[in-house]
Amino acid sequence: MASSIKNFILVASGKGGVGKSTVATNLAMALARAGHSTGLLDADIYGPSIPTMMGRTESPRAGEDKQIIPPMKFGLKLMSIGYLVDASQAMVWRGPMLAGAATQLVQDVAWGELDYLVVDLPPGTGDVQLTLAQKFKVTGAVLVTTPQKVALVDVIRAKTMFDKVRIRTLGLVENMSYFMCPDNGKRYDIFGTGGGEAAARELGVEFLGRVPIEPAVRECGDAGEPVVSAFPESESAKSFTAIAAELGKLVEVVNVERAEREQKRRILPIVQ
Ligand SMILES: Nc1ncnc2c1ncn2[C@@H]1O[C@H](COP(=O)(O)OP(=O)(O)O)[C@@H](O)[C@H]1O
Ligand SMILES: [Mg+2]
Repeated sequence: MASSIKNFILVASGKGGVGKSTVATNLAMALARAGHSTGLLDADIYGPSIPTMMGRTESPRAGEDKQIIPPMKFGLKLMSIGYLVDASQAMVWRGPMLAGAATQLVQDVAWGELDYLVVDLPPGTGDVQLTLAQKFKVTGAVLVTTPQKVALVDVIRAKTMFDKVRIRTLGLVENMSYFMCPDNGKRYDIFGTGGGEAAARELGVEFLGRVPIEPAVRECGDAGEPVVSAFPESESAKSFTAIAAELGKLVEVVNVERAEREQKRRILPIVQ
């Protein structure tokens, strides 16, 4: 049976190490906790993170129509190349094969009915991004950045790529925004402050929110249970939950606009 995915959300960044996988995983978790049926797809074929961040699962099985049944964990349907092949094997694949593999992870997986499929894209602007953008009806992209000014250039590049393939950039998340010292309660803006908001303004996209640096975020990522699931009352988890709610509202607006545009397109030829 073909899957029915209501909202296809790409999580992207201009460069690696800004917390894209962390944000994708925790946003997906927060959407699932809010009652939406949600899938999380790791499209980072060279550097899959989801098997680490969500922990090992039972091996994916083949279902009807030879589709792969995605393992389920903490209420999320999961798929990553890391669940299917040895990570070192994928390292020798070249551009078109990478893009083919990412496409198959969408098409050949029995996602079923999903409110959201959250896709953790590889860093940068390569074949995988372009292919997914062109092959599927993508709702929009969420860009992840850190607050410093230099990160802005990368974000602009990512947005330009989505513009070219007519994917709407829904908004921007600023990760590693600040650190609240548990010893003295003071806030430290380790990578500067305000960069994400300024970038969102410059790009003309929504600023979805900021996530603090918290040791628990990394510890949970390494331990295989996202902070939103393990410590829902932590500052970072509350941020991710608020950002997911913002994203949900935005997606609703975007869908209404899209439906109106499509309706106009249907009516227009009759009027002419
Ligand atoms: N808000 C945060 N607080 C603490 N550690 C974080 C935070 N966001 C990400 N990290 C850690 O930073 C590292 C890079 O994050 P990751 O999500 O893998 O980045 P990317 O997917 O962009 O390469 C990981 O070890 C992750 O646990
Ligand atoms: Mg990653």
